[in-house]
Amino acid sequence: MAHVDNMHIFVNAGAMAHFSTGDLTQPLVGLQMSSSEQIHPPGFGFVIESGIYKKIAHSEEILAEFGGVSNIHDFAGRSIIPGFVDAHTHLLWDGDRSNEIRMRQQGMSYAEIAAAGGGIRHTVSETRVSDNLHRIGQERMEISLAHGTTSLEVKSGYGLDTETELRILQIYQDLHSECASPRLYPTWMGAHDIPHGLNRREYVEQILSEQLPAILDQGIATAADVFCEPGWFTIEDTEEICKEADRGGLTLRLHVDEFTDGGGLELAAELGAVTADHAIHSSDDARAAAAEAGTMQGFLPGTPYVMGSDAWPPIQQCIDEEWPWTLATDFNPNCQSLSIPMAGSLVTHRLKIDPIASLAAVTRNAACGLNNADRLQGVIAEGAIANFIELKSSLVESWCQSPGHSPIENTWIIE
Ligand code: NIG
Ligand code: FE
Repeated sequence: MAHVDNMHIFVNAGAMAHFSTGDLTQPLVGLQMSSSEQIHPPGFGFVIESGIYKKIAHSEEILAEFGGVSNIHDFAGRSIIPGFVDAHTHLLWDGDRSNEIRMRQQGMSYAEIAAAGGGIRHTVSETRVSDNLHRIGQERMEISLAHGTTSLEVKSGYGLDTETELRILQIYQDLHSECASPRLYPTWMGAHDIPHGLNRREYVEQILSEQLPAILDQGIATAADVFCEPGWFTIEDTEEICKEADRGGLTLRLHVDEFTDGGGLELAAELGAVTADHAIHSSDDARAAAAEAGTMQGFLPGTPYVMGSDAWPPIQQCIDEEWPWTLATDFNPNCQSLSIPMAGSLVTHRLKIDPIASLAAVTRNAACGLNNADRLQGVIAEGAIANFIELKSSLVESWCQSPGHSPIENTWIIE
């Protein structure tokens, strides 16, 4: 990773994925996502001033106008793409549930493992007593950045009491002010599971009367998330919590229909959620309603991969129907990957999704769910934030074609 200041000139890129067509505050859909219009041919470069793209043009034009500037970097034909936006992670928790792999191999379901003392509540018990969360967060941010992620959505949800939920969100605030990159976007997910000692209704009451007001009071989250799934939080619980969160000014990002179609995506559309994630078992009607409402479907291919499931999200259908969608890692104790290129490998190699469309899903589209109207990122466009990746290859497609190995030569954060 390289940090540089002031005015900077970059020339002689290989293929450059810019995703700068149309209204940049809106996600790309359908065939726009993989259109050749989204790629500058080899030979382009750009000028960056104060961390913002000032001019993007052929290298000859840039050198004719700005050639006198001393700070010129030659990409030597390597491909350039926007920095990744990982828009769904459970970054902060302590403990280790690697032993659950054997339970999954023996055929136990996620719910059965949770009932047997594993799952989210096991991680909660280790997280509540941990003194290491700040260090763990730093280490995971470094891993994420090393894999090209320059913006990272980070959820709480392994506290499940007011004190620990606040502590996790406060650590995100501290990490955000201490480490410039990746930039953190904190989401409160107190409704991730029901803690030991309370029944579902008691916990929802506690969330509404105590936990959510404290989160809003401290202003330490920008979004709210609920695990809306039969066996966890019902449609009614989710609606109640989300309406309060919305009244408090939080945007909504939901976990829906991961194991079964519980009507979660339909509700997300009704609530005007920014994104509804997993969405593996949602109905076609709910998907169409989500698109109509401007709710993106956030797909997390690492999760079925680690769960040994063949229930993959219907991404090609989203492309065919022009429904907006994103991809993210879903980093969590089950799915311990912070590599966006790995998520790209899964959908290109396993689901035959076009690699340029997949790239749009982890750059511009993911950024659109994180307030792109205020802070334009995920694109290489004049006026946007200049965080970008220099790939090892001259081809954009290489970004997700080396599972287990980094395709990245350098991640540039220009300040
Ligand atoms: O998105 N499904 C809910 N939450 C996480 C998993 C959490 C866990 O198993 O610790 C997810 O997959
Ligand atoms: Fe998740």
